[in-house]
Amino acid sequence: MSLALILLSGFVAAACAQTARPVPLAPTPPMGRNSWNHFAQRVIDADVRAAADAMVANGMREAGYIYVNIDDSWEGTRDADGVLHSNNKFPDMKALADYVHSKGFKLGIYSSPGAKTCAKYEGSLGHEAQDAKTYAEWGIDFLKYDLCSYGNVLRKEGHGDVAAAFPLQRLAYRKMHDALVATGRPIIYSLCQYGMNSVWEWGPEVGGNLWRTTGDIKDTYERMSLIGFAQAGLAKYGGPGHWNDPDMLEVGNGGMNGDEYRTHMSLWAMLAAPLLAGNDLSKMKPETLAILENRDVIAIDQDPLGIQGDRLSAVGPLEIWSKPLSDGSKAVALFNRGELETSMTLKLSDVGLKKAVNLHDVWAGKDIAVENGSYTAVVPKHGVVLLRIQNSSH
Ligand code: GLA
Repeated sequence: MSLALILLSGFVAAACAQTARPVPLAPTPPMGRNSWNHFAQRVIDADVRAAADAMVANGMREAGYIYVNIDDSWEGTRDADGVLHSNNKFPDMKALADYVHSKGFKLGIYSSPGAKTCAKYEGSLGHEAQDAKTYAEWGIDFLKYDLCSYGNVLRKEGHGDVAAAFPLQRLAYRKMHDALVATGRPIIYSLCQYGMNSVWEWGPEVGGNLWRTTGDIKDTYERMSLIGFAQAGLAKYGGPGHWNDPDMLEVGNGGMNGDEYRTHMSLWAMLAAPLLAGNDLSKMKPETLAILENRDVIAIDQDPLGIQGDRLSAVGPLEIWSKPLSDGSKAVALFNRGELETSMTLKLSDVGLKKAVNLHDVWAGKDIAVENGSYTAVVPKHGVVLLRIQNSSH
């Protein structure tokens, strides 16, 4: 090869290295299930296997629910070398990971930067690298890292003020990220510190692929809607590889009615939020499955553009949210937070759409042609009308 050719190929290789960006972990918001909302500390190995089996049988895997995550209460004790073992509810974590992987899923686990987790199990303080190595050996693909008792360390250092010890908190989250990276295994990193110190501003810098923006969700319309609608204004912080996380889903846990669960699912999709089902997937009503598996709603959440939706208007309890999608269409949600069924009118110009549009009512599953510049729908109490709208060609 001539010198010129060698130089040229070197130049091309260098240019490619510069332009070929690696696909980030979590290019779209992670989807899967998490044990906490339904099982809490009762979760055992068999529940995790049953969830994976159910997700194959009921189509959730096909719909994109890939992460099978174990939350707090799997942790046992450390041996003389400091290696953490799972407790007797999880007799063989590697075998469980192999099982979950064999069904086409990924396995997630949970820990804390503190000495103890929120449910007072063993945390990772002082054992970060060792625990990350253990996770990688087991075949773990996702870690939720929950502040919990590290708050005590921060309180002490901040002389009573957890938020004041922020640099330390940041270091603690960065430390586990670096430990995960050092294992060489791609492990999604989920920060859980309830939105303190505006985590959305620094979550990406400590390696977070998602970060909780709020305290814990509950299976009530009041709590879900308080958390969900308070996400307005955070859109610019979410994006491919780094997502705002308003907490796991409660759909199907029984504390809300169908309209309220459709609001929950629609709002999370508009927010490009992680969709981690929190119900018992092995026992589910068809209505629950229809909500979790609605392909049009999932497509809004998982849109590859990765732009989080935001609030456009709020008039009393009536809110309109919109989210741009990769094919040039828009998702628009008409939410009625009030106590009475109400008509809501969307002026198409308000969402940057022309007078004539093709509109798909996502939950009703029907297409509607609109010619006169506005669309009026009746929205049930605590309910939603979710639309996917495309400018028409004429
Ligand atoms: C915290 C988290 C929850 C859950 C529990 C487990 O409360 O916010 O999501 O992980 O801890 O103890």
